[in-house]
Amino acid sequence: MNRSVFRFARYFSTKKVPKSVTVNGQTYATDSWTNVPASIVALTDRQLHLDQNHPIGILRSLIENSFKGMGYTFYNNFKPVVTTFENFDVLGFPEDHPGRSKSDTYYINEKTLLRTHTSAHEHECFQKCSTPGYFISADVYRRDEIDRTHYPAFHQMEGARIWSRSELGDSLHEKLRQDIASIPKVDIIVEDPNPAFSDATNPKQSYMTDVETELVSQHLKRTLELLVNQVFNEAKKSAKLAGSEEPYLNEPLRVRWIEAYFPWTAPSYEIEVWWKGEWLEVCGCGVVREQVLTNSGIENTIGWAFGVGLDRIAMLLFGIPDIRLFWTLDERFSSQFTRGSITTFKPYSKYPGTTRDVSFWLPDTDKLPLHENDLMEIVRDTAGDLVESVKLVDQFVHPKTGRKSQCYRINYQSMDRSLTNDEINVYQEKVRDILRSTYEIELR
Ligand code: PHE
Repeated sequence: MNRSVFRFARYFSTKKVPKSVTVNGQTYATDSWTNVPASIVALTDRQLHLDQNHPIGILRSLIENSFKGMGYTFYNNFKPVVTTFENFDVLGFPEDHPGRSKSDTYYINEKTLLRTHTSAHEHECFQKCSTPGYFISADVYRRDEIDRTHYPAFHQMEGARIWSRSELGDSLHEKLRQDIASIPKVDIIVEDPNPAFSDATNPKQSYMTDVETELVSQHLKRTLELLVNQVFNEAKKSAKLAGSEEPYLNEPLRVRWIEAYFPWTAPSYEIEVWWKGEWLEVCGCGVVREQVLTNSGIENTIGWAFGVGLDRIAMLLFGIPDIRLFWTLDERFSSQFTRGSITTFKPYSKYPGTTRDVSFWLPDTDKLPLHENDLMEIVRDTAGDLVESVKLVDQFVHPKTGRKSQCYRINYQSMDRSLTNDEINVYQEKVRDILRSTYEIELR
């Protein structure tokens, strides 16, 4: 057990982990791995991607509609509890991959967790899908920092497509070329400086030929360029409708391809979109590794997969300033959106935020330190969605004692009402109490 696991186990031991946890009506036994708080379990029933009148659901339909009739099955009903086998092992995550740690992932117990990505369903979909490709949309969960664009639950859409060498025989290349040609052309500027694969930085798999790798990666890239074009042109339209006159709205869309690494694809890429003066990471993808296909009972087959995050794109599309808004039950939010239409969010409140700092001396390094995600979790668990952000604002080492001091600034802000100082003081005191009683830090 590594140190961060031990540390987090301490926080949960002070919270008295229940004997069992019930998620989506299923009850699971807990163990020393359990770290999923009730506030997160409560989100697993929301299924925002299935709500046709919610920005996440509207975005999902927009993308699905651009790919109807092109050979894809759409899966939208997978439940978020998966096994470590599905989420990690079958995809070839090494044992020591940080994604497996308790500081990054919500465990129900040692072998069961809340999926951290939609790739957890690739195995099942490759097994059961009867069309050449599929899309999966779902809620995913990661322990993370707290700010306007990070929330421990978000949404992804996975896509995949395969070609069977046994079925296509000699016509495999021709079929791939036809399929590439049949993808609607889009008017965007594409920067793709690297070759499709390179031994040194982005190797291909030995079971595939150079031409196969080249063609599969072209199909993947043209497919994602189509997706990005559809979505970001909608985002531009909605920004213009809302009255924005920024010059980039009238320029053609610019995207770039960069090399990436994922344990279950090779070669791997990321696509980024030039948006408001910076490169925005949109999507990771690559040529599926043979072992993922053969583990699913698919032999002699080649293909690609991608995974795109929906929340940040929906924030751009609908002009939503804070990711927490997706989860609010406030009518003033939900009443603004309707199926099939992209409209700009009109803020219904600007209640001021109030900040409180928490400063402490960290223990000597050979004692138990505090992982930033543990702090985030404690704050979120105490004050829920009233926390707008938590930021490290100061850090220094005492010149004489060598001890390290940190100061985090917590911004408390409700989206729906004003908070009183008394109320915030109670939360702040509770955060300090938990820190004091759980970690060997010295509050200042
Ligand atoms: N699951 C990856 C992520 O969450 C994205 C991905 C999907 C990459 C499929 C490659 C293939 O970042």
